[in-house]
Amino acid sequence: MKIIRTIEALRTEILAAKGAGKNVSLVPTMGYLHAGHAALITAAASETDFVCVSIFVNRLQFNSAKDFETYPVSESEDIEVCKKAGASLVFMPSHDEMYSLAPALQLSMPSLSANLCGPVRPNHFEGVLLIVARLFNLFQPDVAFFGKKDYQQYRIIERLVRDLNFPVRIVGCETVREPDGLAMSSRNANLRPEHREQAALIYRSFKILEKAVNNGMADPIELTEIAQDVIVSGPDNRIDYVQIVHPETLELLQAIDGPFVVAAAVFCGEVRLIDNMTISPVVHDSF
Ligand code: PAF
Repeated sequence: MKIIRTIEALRTEILAAKGAGKNVSLVPTMGYLHAGHAALITAAASETDFVCVSIFVNRLQFNSAKDFETYPVSESEDIEVCKKAGASLVFMPSHDEMYSLAPALQLSMPSLSANLCGPVRPNHFEGVLLIVARLFNLFQPDVAFFGKKDYQQYRIIERLVRDLNFPVRIVGCETVREPDGLAMSSRNANLRPEHREQAALIYRSFKILEKAVNNGMADPIELTEIAQDVIVSGPDNRIDYVQIVHPETLELLQAIDGPFVVAAAVFCGEVRLIDNMTISPVVHDSF
């Protein structure tokens, strides 16, 4: 597995791989890799013969300096995770390598950023769009893998690819969870031990909401309240949002009449975690 730190060297490697007729896949990450990332790399390795992982903490997508500064980093462990999961190449550029010139280009997607994390993290998706477009240009991947834990990001990137005709297929992979349901996230490393158990209430709230839907409750406001009550039963949890949205348009739903996504952002102590679940209500036969 090759470790590449410059754009010039990356271009050489990609040209060589494509010249040898290899299928190139990309797993973009910000490092501090966990089992969720390993699952993305494994999925990429099962479909393609040249698996690239990018590890770059993209300052442009952080709307808080403290969040950027405290983002966990673990270079040597990350390299091991990539190796074990079947990566062929890891790209680990410095900030200066990627942004030697501050980008003048701006990308935004107002419709898909109107809800969920969009309003509470100004400029976040603009930063994501720019770095992902750049990574697609650098790697020219045939297929790219993203985790559905970042559901809004996954939908935004799918649309980026359609709108700009990037010749890349986007694969969304299911969220990998801890035994108690907590979604795996690099940020979990920053949770204080006393907040860790309370963090699992986010997923538990989705499961309770799912039960309520399947018992016939169809009002998104009432359903959201049920989830909120479960989350704040953890005294150190503070809700940023809990929303019920359409799975593709990400618009807030006024009534439940088909599959939907419930998504939440919650401060568990100091650490902001996001999670979501797609729910397809059970259709009851009526006689
Ligand atoms: O999901 C992430 O880790 C990041 O948002 C991404 C896609 C690597 C862009 O920096």
